Amino acid sequence: QDEMKQAVGQAAVERLLPHLDADSIVGVGTGSTANCFIDALAKHKLAFDGAVASSEATAERLKSHGITVYDLNGAPQLDFYVDGADESNENLELIKGGGAALTREKIVAAVAKTFICIADESKLVPVLGEFPLPVEVIPMARSHVAREIVRLGGDPVYREGCITDNGNVILDVYNMSIVNPKQLEADLNAIVGVVCNGLFAARPADVLLLGTPQGVRTIER
Ligand code: A5P
Repeated sequence: QDEMKQAVGQAAVERLLPHLDADSIVGVGTGSTANCFIDALAKHKLAFDGAVASSEATAERLKSHGITVYDLNGAPQLDFYVDGADESNENLELIKGGGAALTREKIVAAVAKTFICIADESKLVPVLGEFPLPVEVIPMARSHVAREIVRLGGDPVYREGCITDNGNVILDVYNMSIVNPKQLEADLNAIVGVVCNGLFAARPADVLLLGTPQGVRTIER
């Protein structure tokens, strides 16, 4: 799996390189696969200006490579966002947030023109939902949101000891077979106290680079 993560990280860099110039700012995601991308990208750090990070951890890793990290509000244009996922279906709708960075990830993905998702083949599923769906919640609303999620048919579990970069908590929702990701994404967003949920369906990935033992498979929307 590590080799597949490295292969898709490298493949994402190769896909980006022809489009990068001295003014380019790259959106960078969070997690072990995104880390492989960061390490591969760092070898070309003179080919672009800098990056916007989707988490404090990613910002630290980028800086440790000498890559300039910009605030999203100061970045004029993001052509690319590269990030991993916890699950993807064939429509490139995703579950993300296993690493609790879902809100900033969704914000950077919303700004970027092209979202390239990188993952090993274990992440591609016919129907989303085997991976528990992370929902970021304002702490005082935790019990209210949990009750509303039960009404939607899910089993929410409080992720003990996890505080997001935004100072909030996470409920992981089990036992949902997500046949209509867009609808569920909207329904969860409509619960008061929900900051963000880990479904990326309103804004799915544009490209999925999938690591397989035979090489990197590309799926485009
Ligand atoms: C972070 O919050 C997540 O959305 C990650 O993108 C996701 O958990 C993938 O992580 P790995 O690449 O470590 O599997």
